[in-house]
Amino acid sequence: MQRAQHHIRGPLGYDALPMNILGIETSCDETGAAVYNTQRGLIAHALHSQVDLHAVYGGVVPEIASRDHVRMLLPLIQQVLSEAGIERPDAIAYTAGPGLVGALMVGGGMANGLGLGWSCPVIPVHHMEGHLLAPMLEEQPPRYPFLALLVSGGHTMLVAVRQLGAYRLLGTTLDDAVGEAFDKTAKLLGLGYPGGPALAALAEQGSDQAFEFPRPMLKKPGFDFSFSGLKTAVMIEVRKREAAGTLKRADVAASFQRAVVDTLIGRTIKAAEAEGLERIVVAGGVGANKLLRQDLAARFKGTVYYPRMEFCTDNGAMIAVAGALRLGDADGAGEIKARARWPLETLNTPDAAPPHGIG
Ligand code: KG4
Ligand code: ZN
Repeated sequence: MQRAQHHIRGPLGYDALPMNILGIETSCDETGAAVYNTQRGLIAHALHSQVDLHAVYGGVVPEIASRDHVRMLLPLIQQVLSEAGIERPDAIAYTAGPGLVGALMVGGGMANGLGLGWSCPVIPVHHMEGHLLAPMLEEQPPRYPFLALLVSGGHTMLVAVRQLGAYRLLGTTLDDAVGEAFDKTAKLLGLGYPGGPALAALAEQGSDQAFEFPRPMLKKPGFDFSFSGLKTAVMIEVRKREAAGTLKRADVAASFQRAVVDTLIGRTIKAAEAEGLERIVVAGGVGANKLLRQDLAARFKGTVYYPRMEFCTDNGAMIAVAGALRLGDADGAGEIKARARWPLETLNTPDAAPPHGIG
């Protein structure tokens, strides 16, 4: 297929001509759409959560996820275009991975179909780069360089960010992702899916001193994480207390959350110090955890940046802003990219990357 050539330079206010970027997110169980204007910032966003559809199964069912994205994506796009007061965007950004391939194909197919119809460029976005750039939607965005702690249902990563696209992975999980550890522990405690928010809510009624759960890896060198030992320790304690009829679920939740947060914070501050970085960005679903947000800001000497709560979990706004920053990467529409796995470190610095972030 012949691919149109689009050369777009100067995103985010560099241009005399502001541009509207439509962002599309369909990598997992949230359908998101948003419009980011390179001069005015975010001008519309809408989200449809599939959580209720998957809750009965205790986790995300890929086929149901794809079908529901098909059902909801176009109405959401129509909604944000109408809210933004535009008929069509100047470019379309979509999540091309990592994620569930069927779900990604829905967003990728839609983005490329609309891009062909509107004859506008299409930008494949890395989902975790979207999370990492979500704080750029805020009024006081971080400047480069910074350390990013990316914590979601599928990832736990410490990344040294020199500039847009220049990512060095300092540490990752050797087993479960931290969101997964929250979800599995929540399941053990009989809480619904997704477990993170439910477990955090229950923890507020318990004592975080009730159990001395392990702080995995904290004493080991390097910046990797491991959560399976903690999960097993919690399971053994729960079974024991259940059998004895003395289980206080809120105490388990609070002590588990404390162990996870201490581990994340300990590792993150050590990495920032080792790299000489004065700014930390926390993003991804677990970044919505209040204890993590409060304690990291209190314990780190530098500045901690978070997206607002609603942009910690999956959303279209972070994909739209990532697309705006990567306009230099834009392709003509026609080739759907969908990658289940896609290492963040393989991304490049785009031609038109602003040198110092948006701010
Ligand atoms: O980023 P996200 O929406 O989806 C992925 O890309 O994975 O992250 C979802 C994860 C789930 O594991 C969920 O339980 C967790 O983030 N999560 C939380 C909280 N809110 C969401 N974990 C702990 N505390 C929270 N408040
Ligand atoms: Zn995510």
